[in-house]
Amino acid sequence: MTDRSAPQGAARNITSYGDEGFSRYLRGAFLAAAGYDQEDLSRPIIGITDLTSDFNPCHRALPSIIENVKRGVVEAGGLPFVFPTASLGESFMSPTTMLYRNMLALETEELVRAQPMDAVVMIGGCDKTVPAQLMAAAVSDVPVIVDVVGSMITGSWRGERLGACTDCRRFWARHRAGELDKAEITEVEGSLATTAGTCMVMGTASTMASLAEALGMMLPGGATPTSPSGARLRHATATGRRAVELARDPLLPREILTPAAFENALHVLAALGGSTNAIVHLLAIARRAGVELTLDDVDRVARETPLLVDLKPSGTRYMEDFHHAGGVPVLLRALADRLDPGHVGVSGVPLAELVARTDPPAPWQDVIATPEQPIGPTGALVVLRGSLAPDGAVLKVSAASPHLLEHTGPAIVFDSPEDAAVRLDDPALDITADHVLVLRNAGPVAAGMPEAGSLPLPRRLAAAGVKDMVRVSDARMSGTSYGTVVLHCAPESAVGGPLALVRDGDLVRLDVAERRLDLLVDDVELARRRADLPPRTVPLRGWRRLHAETVLQANLGADLAFLAADVPGQGGPRQVKE
Ligand code: FES
Repeated sequence: MTDRSAPQGAARNITSYGDEGFSRYLRGAFLAAAGYDQEDLSRPIIGITDLTSDFNPCHRALPSIIENVKRGVVEAGGLPFVFPTASLGESFMSPTTMLYRNMLALETEELVRAQPMDAVVMIGGCDKTVPAQLMAAAVSDVPVIVDVVGSMITGSWRGERLGACTDCRRFWARHRAGELDKAEITEVEGSLATTAGTCMVMGTASTMASLAEALGMMLPGGATPTSPSGARLRHATATGRRAVELARDPLLPREILTPAAFENALHVLAALGGSTNAIVHLLAIARRAGVELTLDDVDRVARETPLLVDLKPSGTRYMEDFHHAGGVPVLLRALADRLDPGHVGVSGVPLAELVARTDPPAPWQDVIATPEQPIGPTGALVVLRGSLAPDGAVLKVSAASPHLLEHTGPAIVFDSPEDAAVRLDDPALDITADHVLVLRNAGPVAAGMPEAGSLPLPRRLAAAGVKDMVRVSDARMSGTSYGTVVLHCAPESAVGGPLALVRDGDLVRLDVAERRLDLLVDDVELARRRADLPPRTVPLRGWRRLHAETVLQANLGADLAFLAADVPGQGGPRQVKE
């Protein structure tokens, strides 16, 4: 609970000069220089994060969204203060934005703690930004509302509707297979990402926006309006107004991010056929919120909840279609029997009441289904265990090939994404469609966990018509990807996980029905190989060294160990399901 007797507004978080009076006087002088008078400073201060960057085209509409949040804040009697944080543009950061998710989470957490604000609106969008902000929110002592920049509107090429980035990958695969020439793929390149906004399939950005709403950290209806739309701006204004109310009558993130919130979010994730990346992010957010969420919870809920939303890559449609069908509120209504009706998010209204105000999925639309007539079966996401992943691995079954869900094949091992890039197209590579592509040294410690798990099919096999192969790694894959791709194997190879022991030709068995992933090599041979493993190397300096030395494994959320501690004073981790 917030201490209402504590200093508010500009009097919060005084700079330490050893004289509180002088600190206030000096802060007042600089605020006066910025044009603020006592009337201004009597109002609640609402911090608003600014993640605009020329290196993040997904956030191109953010300035106008921020202006609308500011307008809402002023209308409600608050004082908006915009402050910058890092912006993580998915295709602009090397080796991967995931390496910097925890940095943005740490930066956001510290800037909220260090600066004087009574509530904060965190506006993210591109994949890692919303997870980082939710991780920061989980440990915030002031109210937080999350908003997003919204998704892009679809484009088209030669009469075919296109969206980033499931279609990016599909067309690239066709180009690699020789079906599209250079001129054609260049035309496609200009038609995939046509407006401001985040990828408009159910990739990581759309999944995390939807989960922020399901967790109760976003006002209802905020996940799905497209980035260029008036609905997006109106939601921003409403968010600004609500932030002022929360500053006056606080509801803290740790009161919202309860075990029930995560249970609700897992049902929504399963019904969306959402990104596998969301599993790592939810685990990280939960640890910060002091909630004991595990991969077993992910698998348990996914077994109960069928696929209800028809969006790529699991389905056929795009975010604007989801929005027109009613978005997350209608999905929550469809899932209501499975959700905790008493959960209260930033709206302050219990979920049961929000659901009662919402119509069920309408008969005129075919994007949001009901559990009685789902789009797909239960188990869209599964957690696998076995001798190749003792601490777990994940597979998005809804984006995989049914004929590969039970498969045994010989391994071809790649020691890094770069190694795979060179060798996969080598005509001399002796490989068939039955082989299992194994990628290692791409986990959190080794490489920051890039989205390299969805290895491209060897060009020769793609040209021969092969559409999918089993792929296994300690990497992630983009939420927009598809294929029979086993990800997040833990422990990763760089810390001695069993992926490090695989050799070309070893048999690997995937059995999704049994939730198993096994290396069919005897223990004596594995022990011999383990004794030959080279010593681990760590980056020499900077963030990469800190990250490599302290990051947790994927099954624990890949947060930095010293940031993932349970919230003090809550009597230990809170169980998702007793
Ligand atoms: Fe930004 Fe897909 S690249 S959301």
